[in-house]
Amino acid sequence: MRVTWQVCAGCASEIPETDPHPRCPHCRGLLEVHHQAPVPGGNALRATFDARTALARGVLTSGVWRFSEVVLPNASAHVLSYPEGNTPLLAGTAVAAWAGARDLLLKHEGLNPTGSFKDRGMTVGVTQARRVGARAVACASTGNTAASLAAYAALAGLAALVIVPKGQVAAGKLAQALAYGARTLLVRGNFDDCLELVDQASERLGVYLLNSVNPFRLEGQKTIVLELLQQLAWEPPDWIVVPAGNLGNTAAFGKALEEARAWELIDRTPRLAAVQAEGAAPFAHSFREGFARPHRVAPHTVATAINIGNPVSYARAVRAIRDTNGVVTTVSDAEILEAKAVVDGAGLGCEPASAAAVAGTRRLIGEGVIDAGARVVAVLTGHLLKDPEAVTRYHQELEPRPPRANRPVEIEARLEAVERALGA
Ligand code: F0G
Repeated sequence: MRVTWQVCAGCASEIPETDPHPRCPHCRGLLEVHHQAPVPGGNALRATFDARTALARGVLTSGVWRFSEVVLPNASAHVLSYPEGNTPLLAGTAVAAWAGARDLLLKHEGLNPTGSFKDRGMTVGVTQARRVGARAVACASTGNTAASLAAYAALAGLAALVIVPKGQVAAGKLAQALAYGARTLLVRGNFDDCLELVDQASERLGVYLLNSVNPFRLEGQKTIVLELLQQLAWEPPDWIVVPAGNLGNTAAFGKALEEARAWELIDRTPRLAAVQAEGAAPFAHSFREGFARPHRVAPHTVATAINIGNPVSYARAVRAIRDTNGVVTTVSDAEILEAKAVVDGAGLGCEPASAAAVAGTRRLIGEGVIDAGARVVAVLTGHLLKDPEAVTRYHQELEPRPPRANRPVEIEARLEAVERALGA
């Protein structure tokens, strides 16, 4: 009996698990991974997952492969793991107070090996690349996918190609791609141009495409949700709030929740809230029109990770929002930067796109969409050091000085100068 297979969302063709095409070979539609329901499910499956948290060695210590029965059950010998995941669920009292939430938890995905949630999808994507015998892997990226792909390709001994928009990738991310040895192309265009380019180039060059077009990436990203549910002893929160760009995570979260419910890991479904930057909000426009059609915009936001105008996982994400009775909202760049200063100032730290989740939580509570007493988990998707320039600009350069700016003071090397600077 087959355990895992792929289904085309366009023409409903069923395709074997190890078919190497990242899109439907018949109609180029997006593929989805299907698994046979794990037996047993429910309590017994939860117990299996829980028992593995005590392991000290081996691939099942990964926060992704701990859930292998619902991620990629047949991958065994090919699994390539750093390991990744096992990220903390943090209380962040100061952040909750700023957001007006009584029960806000922060799932810090910035604490993955390359500093973003992308590692969860990439361990599965590169594992699948090995299963299909790929020699090289490629992606377009706003930076984090590139960093993660470069690292995992290096771990696997595969050649890596990353295509990124010139001048729109945060310094830490570009540094990682170069350091891990990926062939890096800086495109004079935006992320949407890069994605179209890599989609064509990967086919022409016979390189395995590892953008979130690739459904195996999403199987890995599902474990953000599975792990946070496990950390809450399988007692679901009321809301999960996530920043949204290319919509891979929104789609993966919806799939994780649908399966978790079907396989009786949880008995009620949290609501999803996807948060976009005002200047890059095609999905939010569609939501306001009842998802009548996808939109395409010329994107512009300080949160370069989500500076995306034509999200590829649109249809998958619509399903995720509908199935979870979810919402899509927007926040301004100023709100993103303030939320980031609050998260950073609390000692937690995140990159600008991640702060959109916190700014979005505040906005949705303010509007009464999320109840102030609801249990909310917001996902911090990337590490503070990914984008050091955003920090410098906010604290040292912006005029007028933002409310939370922490300006450094330059002084002579004398004690009186220290005293004067401290107002002593
Ligand atoms: N947060 C961060 C830090 C990201 O890097 C991304 C996406 C998102 C949120 C949005 O997630 O695309 O699944 O809706 N970064 C991609 C990249 C596009 O290339 O690194 P999404």
